[in-house]
Amino acid sequence: KNIAVIFGGVSSEHQVSITSATAIMEGLPSDKYDITPIIISQKGSWYLFDQPLNELANDDWETRLSLKRVLISTDHQKPGLIIFDKERLQYVSIDCYFPVLHGKNGEDGTIQGLLDLTNIPYVGCGTLSSALSMDKVFAYQIVKELKVKIPEFISFHQQQYNDELLAQKIKETLGYPLFVKPVNSGSSFGITKVYQEDELKKAIEHAFLHDQKVICEKAIVGTEVGCAVYGNEKPETGLVGEISASQDYLDFNDKYIYGQIKQYVPARVDHDILKLVQQKAIDIYQTLGCSGLARVDFFIKENGEIIFNEINTMPGFTPSSRYPKMLEASGIQYSDLLDELIELALS
Ligand code: DAL
Ligand code: MG
Repeated sequence: KNIAVIFGGVSSEHQVSITSATAIMEGLPSDKYDITPIIISQKGSWYLFDQPLNELANDDWETRLSLKRVLISTDHQKPGLIIFDKERLQYVSIDCYFPVLHGKNGEDGTIQGLLDLTNIPYVGCGTLSSALSMDKVFAYQIVKELKVKIPEFISFHQQQYNDELLAQKIKETLGYPLFVKPVNSGSSFGITKVYQEDELKKAIEHAFLHDQKVICEKAIVGTEVGCAVYGNEKPETGLVGEISASQDYLDFNDKYIYGQIKQYVPARVDHDILKLVQQKAIDIYQTLGCSGLARVDFFIKENGEIIFNEINTMPGFTPSSRYPKMLEASGIQYSDLLDELIELALS
């Protein structure tokens, strides 16, 4: 089977995607799958990456290497990839796409919509579930209907933003400390923890660099956990995993630069509560219409209260990332997991 792995992307998480995809391409069982790597540059150019993956270590790869351009065919009579080889067009047939894209323009339903047009299966959630899961406000509104607690929040579009009115409303309804986040983002990009009112404006302006919609939510004191879910009609979960930050909260540096984030699988929380977390994760997954995979994140307060934090339909995917770690702890090895995800896409 020929698997086209799509990675990079026009997203703040471009580099994280390269790391995830490199691990996935190395982990896919080579006796079973041929891999066609497709990289999307930060400017949105699509290339066939027929070079050793370590060439991606320097971010000048786009100018240094002479790569062929590639497009995805949405023509059912000529499906697969269209490769621009000098003046000629070459077609490569694909059995399954594996979009390993994090964040905007990849994890948010955009690529999924394009792939739907091809009529070729792809790994992971579909267009609607990806879009709903990526948008923190839509996800909250749907999860709230399930009687799962969500953080108190206020969200607004850039055009509605009025700093004085807002500061007042925030003080009355949320209080400090709070988190300011872009509504659509990942890997902590654009997020600031705000401790007092005079820091608010700067934090909101920073979040607007990443998205036109911003959400302010009350900071929750509790254990941060995630639950790996996989499957289509009958989803299953791995063990619930806990992460703890080196400082006050998890930021990008913690997640990717210094590697100071500590993972505990299972989480250091009462067993019965973790069972409830798994049930809620499945409930959320199904209600958002997810398929393939997702990592559902929660906070557990000291009194045992479980609060939904967010859902990631393409979670970080190196062998030491949280999603594969949680499944490994329940007996599913990294390569088998990849195999399973492709089977789920093809089924
Ligand atoms: N957004 C990052 C990749 C994650 O959720 O793991
Ligand atoms: Mg995330």
